[in-house]
Amino acid sequence: MPYNFDEIIDRSGTCSIKIDVAGYGKPADALPLWVADMDFKAPLCVIDALEKQVRHGIFGYSDSGPEYYEAVRRWQLGHHGFDTQASWLVKTPGVVVALHIAVRGLTAPGDAVLIQTPVYHPFHTAATLMGRKLVANELVNEADSGKYGIDFDDFEAKIAQNNVKIFLLCSPHNPVGRVWTREELLRMGEICLRYGVTVVSDEIHQDFIFPGHRHTVFASLSPELSAITVTCTAPSKTFNLAGLMHSNIFIANPALRDAFVREYELYGLSQLGVLGLVACQAAYEGGADWLAELLAYLDGNLTLITNWAQSRPAAVKFRRPEGTYLAWMDFRSLGLSPRELDDLVTKKAKVWLSNGRQFGEAGAGFLRLNAASPRSVIEEALRRLDTLFPSEY
Ligand SMILES: Cc1ncc(COP(=O)(O)O)c(C=O)c1O
Repeated sequence: MPYNFDEIIDRSGTCSIKIDVAGYGKPADALPLWVADMDFKAPLCVIDALEKQVRHGIFGYSDSGPEYYEAVRRWQLGHHGFDTQASWLVKTPGVVVALHIAVRGLTAPGDAVLIQTPVYHPFHTAATLMGRKLVANELVNEADSGKYGIDFDDFEAKIAQNNVKIFLLCSPHNPVGRVWTREELLRMGEICLRYGVTVVSDEIHQDFIFPGHRHTVFASLSPELSAITVTCTAPSKTFNLAGLMHSNIFIANPALRDAFVREYELYGLSQLGVLGLVACQAAYEGGADWLAELLAYLDGNLTLITNWAQSRPAAVKFRRPEGTYLAWMDFRSLGLSPRELDDLVTKKAKVWLSNGRQFGEAGAGFLRLNAASPRSVIEEALRRLDTLFPSEY
């Protein structure tokens, strides 16, 4: 069944942080393409399941039954070859919460936490807010091409020098759009095993993989790696359900899982919201066709952005993401500070993008554009950016 991703849906008055809530001093008429949710409706199977639950009218304490786990298990196995067991699953109200629990529960104050910058900003704060030492293995922007790789020597040296206890892996990577290959993951895993580093693998973007690339669940690489890994998954990015605050964390190692759960219990949260449970099960049971069409649509949006950037080589460098719906654009050639670049784009062109600096120093001079909007919105954003960066041909 064809879905209409071209439909413009007015999100005002729906508590959307993108539209209604967060102004952050940006001009009201700036086109918002910053926060990573989508301007598309969730699949009909999800809306129907939620509607049925809402119409039932009773919203008592709720938890998942075997059908829920079966839907989650089948999704991970069928889409990612990740063979899970029910006992591994811990449900949390979001992945960022899980990152915080993992850092606090699996390390001690002052311990070192490794991240790969530029990276989603809560990776930084998950360490710093907990009084842990933040250590960065900066990703390598190969020949400034926009293709990012890993400096494995630095990765190992940072772990050894700082006695790193936990590595927060972003896979696929937000914002640089890499889908790490099996070889890259194995190499990082081998180093983590050698130094006794626990890996928290945030795979929230695992379902946004474009042709030519394949996502590998880190914990699926070997039993040894499974035993040191906390795998964070969620239906929230995939099916646009972030407002339902629901995620599935898999921890195969009982000792690691116990430590995670002990920390989690401190917050007094015994169950999650019923709507997240219902939506997650419905999405994984019936959302695959919708996702396939969505990926094709996003691929089209990314082609548009790629073509736009390619005709402005002096202003912007851009390499189409292998995964995620986030376009990481390099404007360093303009020689502007992050604040100046941000002001130029939001105030002059009236397009609100994520300032690359928020992902770490390595993101200075970059902007991140969320491509998960109807094509006409992306076209409008590019038209507005044309006023600053006209075609060079
Ligand atoms: C890598 C990554 N992890 C986690 C999240 C947010 O997860 P949640 O909304 O489940 O806390 C995002 C959202 O952009 C993300 O990009």
